[in-house]
Amino acid sequence: MEYKIALLRGDGIGPEIVDSAVRVLEKIGERYGHSFRFTPYLIGGCAIDATGKPLPEETVEGCLASDSVLLGAVGGPKWDPQPGHLRPEKALLGIRSALGLFTNLRPAKLYPALRDASPLRADIVEKGFDLMIVRELTGGIYFGERGKREGKYGEEAYDTEAYSRMEIERIGRVAFETARKRNKRLISIDKANVLETSRLWREIMHAMSKEYPDVEYADLLVDNAAMQLVKNPAQFDVVVTSNMFGDILSDEASQITGSIGMLASASLGDTKRGMYEPIHGSAPDIAGKNVANPIATILSAAMMLRYSFDLAEEADCIEQAVDRVLEKGFRTADLLGGREGTPLSCTEMTDRILAEI
Ligand code: IPM
Ligand code: MG
Repeated sequence: MEYKIALLRGDGIGPEIVDSAVRVLEKIGERYGHSFRFTPYLIGGCAIDATGKPLPEETVEGCLASDSVLLGAVGGPKWDPQPGHLRPEKALLGIRSALGLFTNLRPAKLYPALRDASPLRADIVEKGFDLMIVRELTGGIYFGERGKREGKYGEEAYDTEAYSRMEIERIGRVAFETARKRNKRLISIDKANVLETSRLWREIMHAMSKEYPDVEYADLLVDNAAMQLVKNPAQFDVVVTSNMFGDILSDEASQITGSIGMLASASLGDTKRGMYEPIHGSAPDIAGKNVANPIATILSAAMMLRYSFDLAEEADCIEQAVDRVLEKGFRTADLLGGREGTPLSCTEMTDRILAEI
């Protein structure tokens, strides 16, 4: 079978890590008899440089015509002076929205081999953790009305958060179903003691929990959740939360696994077409040096095989290859975190993973 994959390499380390994932997919194709056809499109800063726009129409059309999308990262200091609507990050929000990707799955698990890379105390990491963040991706404050105006103290800027019943229900449904397929525990994270959107969110999640008596349900305020994540991450199985809280908590969750360079993500909507990307950014400080950790992007490609193409065995194969490479002690610089050892380059780490496939 042939699968059409749109490649959005983007900026910074984006091209290096996407190319690593492409090599892994090609190897999987060879081994299992699939053919992956890759078509690159511009997004973010490189698109601004080439076309003046962060998200050219051709990119949106190309993604819509593909079976799935693999994205590296966007942004960098070069484009920081751009006005808000022309920033590289705007393209990321634009493509998520254009493809209807309202669900963002961000798994964060502790690899036993990486225990000593986690900043958490030994007695906490000993218990291990394996959680799935279900982040709402096309609503909330990221997409609300914003602007500048004259306020009580003169010039002011504002952003607004709105969530409709429909948006909350559809992400809630995904979260409960996800919990059902895992350890049947779901925690919804909000700020219902302050925000009206959170109160509606909580009301809807509570009502929905009645339909899922087999799922153990609880809610947690976001400030407490941030604390619980470092205090006792093992208590979490699936968490569901809004766009902005999910953005923040997923960076925190990644760091306790040892490195943000490890976390993959899948953005999904109503169709099989998804967009797969590492949760980290474009890391302009290390771009072009061949030192980035390609694992988050390689694991994102595995998620693509699993969620968009129903190729579970092939996805397992990639994940196990990553496990084995880590077990053997191979590390990129981020995973060494200043400890002793020789860091592998991005391409060397990819070679090691390829050798295990
Ligand atoms: C992420 C990123 C993006 C987000 C930025 C780059 C717009 O931080 O995917 O987590 O906030 O969603
Ligand atoms: Mg983020």
